[in-house]
Amino acid sequence: MYSLSSLLKRLIVIHVLAIQLLLINSELPLNTTNAYLNHKCLVSKGKYKPGSEYEDRLKRIMKGFYSGSNKGYDGFGDSTLSAILQCRGDSYGTECRDCFVTALAALHRRCPWYKGKIIWYDQCLLSISPKYTIGQIDYDDNFCMFNAKKLSWNSAITWATFLNNMTTLAITRDKNRMYLAGKRLLKGDMLYGMVQCTKDLSTQACEECLMFNTVRFQHCLNYRRGARFMGRSCTFRFELYPFIAKSVQII
Ligand SMILES: *[C@@H]1O[C@H](CO)[C@@H](O)[C@H](O)[C@H]1NC(C)=O
Ligand SMILES: *[C@@H]1O[C@H](CO)[C@@H](O)[C@H](O)[C@H]1NC(C)=O
Repeated sequence: MYSLSSLLKRLIVIHVLAIQLLLINSELPLNTTNAYLNHKCLVSKGKYKPGSEYEDRLKRIMKGFYSGSNKGYDGFGDSTLSAILQCRGDSYGTECRDCFVTALAALHRRCPWYKGKIIWYDQCLLSISPKYTIGQIDYDDNFCMFNAKKLSWNSAITWATFLNNMTTLAITRDKNRMYLAGKRLLKGDMLYGMVQCTKDLSTQACEECLMFNTVRFQHCLNYRRGARFMGRSCTFRFELYPFIAKSVQII
């Protein structure tokens, strides 16, 4: 026997699930500019206290990032505090700055007082850590989201090749940004993709990060109509619809 309140609870859960499925399933238009994606509080790194030196330094660094956000990237690192702001390759100026401001506020709210924390938005990544992380590939802090709709064909090799080709172009033709947005016509479908590394990495580390995670997250590619991998050091995304408005190269 269900009581009325437990029935209501079940209905609400079903309703929330349905909304989530709708959100995942809908192929979002180009204009959904800056969705929140995920965050991670690095609990094992401990907390800092109000008024501590850590807080003071963090505040000063974040103030600097506000100006740095114009260029689409800012990074700071020493043995006790590192921070990275990386905006998507097509996002700089006010777009990047707006994302930074949103990300910083959300990070403080979601991970209050944690020394280490990371937040991912559509257009930027903000990461703070109490150790030196600049130039190092982070293999731990990442996730992959995929479109719930499946393809009838096994897409893993197709997507992996597409991603590998974009990675090669990003680190050879656009070394400075280590970013590439591309599209490719395949059997009547247009594939859209994007790869990017944080600017503190070397091109070699960038290639390693993208290649490694393409293999590691194969389950995210297999039969998928679209997916996005988000890491602290690199990111990739592919879809059957355009999701970046500016300078998408035919590859
Ligand atoms: C995005 O929205 C703006 C106004 O909000 C509109 O002018 C622009 O055409 C839209 N772009 C796309 C690609 O839909
Ligand atoms: C694309 O990637 C595949 C697999 O990694 C490779 O064999 C092929 O040569 C690449 N093509 C280009 C144009 O880079």
